[in-house]
Amino acid sequence: MAGSVDRLKAALSERFGEDFPVPEGLAGADELAHIASHRVCRRYRTDDVPPDLLRLLCAAALSAPTKSDLQQGDILIVRDKARREVICGLLPEMPWLMDAPVFLVFLANGRRVPQISAMRGTPFPNDHLDLFFNASVDAAIVLANFVRAAEATGLGCCPISVIRDHVAVVSEMLALPDKVIPVAGMGVGWPAEDGAISPRLPLSVTVHEETFSEDGLAEHIDAYDRRRAAIRPYRRQREPERFGTAPFYGWSEDKARQYAKPQRTDFGAFVRGKGFKLD
Ligand SMILES: Cc1cc2nc3c(=O)[nH]c(=O)nc-3n(C[C@H](O)[C@H](O)[C@H](O)COP(=O)(O)O)c2cc1C
Repeated sequence: MAGSVDRLKAALSERFGEDFPVPEGLAGADELAHIASHRVCRRYRTDDVPPDLLRLLCAAALSAPTKSDLQQGDILIVRDKARREVICGLLPEMPWLMDAPVFLVFLANGRRVPQISAMRGTPFPNDHLDLFFNASVDAAIVLANFVRAAEATGLGCCPISVIRDHVAVVSEMLALPDKVIPVAGMGVGWPAEDGAISPRLPLSVTVHEETFSEDGLAEHIDAYDRRRAAIRPYRRQREPERFGTAPFYGWSEDKARQYAKPQRTDFGAFVRGKGFKLD
């Protein structure tokens, strides 16, 4: 399918600033083109997402690989307007979120496996960091698979980790029991705009061959900053009153400023409070 291959090449070239040869007759080029064309969606039409379609997407998402077949990633669907209003009220910096007719929460469920051990009368000597880690990884994989499934049907998504800024309130409202924590929320709806491909770091930074390498890291990041600024410059600088106005404001400056402020320093305490042991 020449159309798919062209779309695939164009998306990857825009994303990475590099051309990737596609083998002649490659199977799955259409799916790869979809994956490569991914873009976050923060503007939604208000049309509903039919419940059957949502369940179909949940089933597709939960078909993801799962650690040891333990199936520790869950999806919580929030459709109720009043409940969504409470969640969105916690996130005034994201007013667009209320337009999404569905809000999902991807949950790390470290509770079910110990429950199963209790049901079967076996010991559970694995109540340590690995339980939290495996459940969180599973939930993140389900989240990524959901995005892929939803986008295949024309829906748009925006994962929302900012709900973890208000994790105790969200947890209580959603009646999350011990050992079940939100990894991220997600707005889901029909896109009201096309969105744009977000450039990524080059593979020379993020793909390592045989052994880990950081060769040329600073130069690669500078080049990425410049390439990205040429395609998608930042509209405003973060905290100019604290950091000044940079003559050139690239991705690395933005991320460095973003992480110059403590974020969710109470998250570990919340996770421990939910009964996860982090040692
Ligand atoms: C786990 C996760 C959490 C995210 N949390 C937020 C969020 O709280 N608010 C937001 O606007 N975008 C959020 N995003 C979306 C990212 O900002 C977006 O994916 C990133 O800018 C790259 O853009 P792209 O997805 O179009 O490639 C999140 C994405 C992921 C994967």
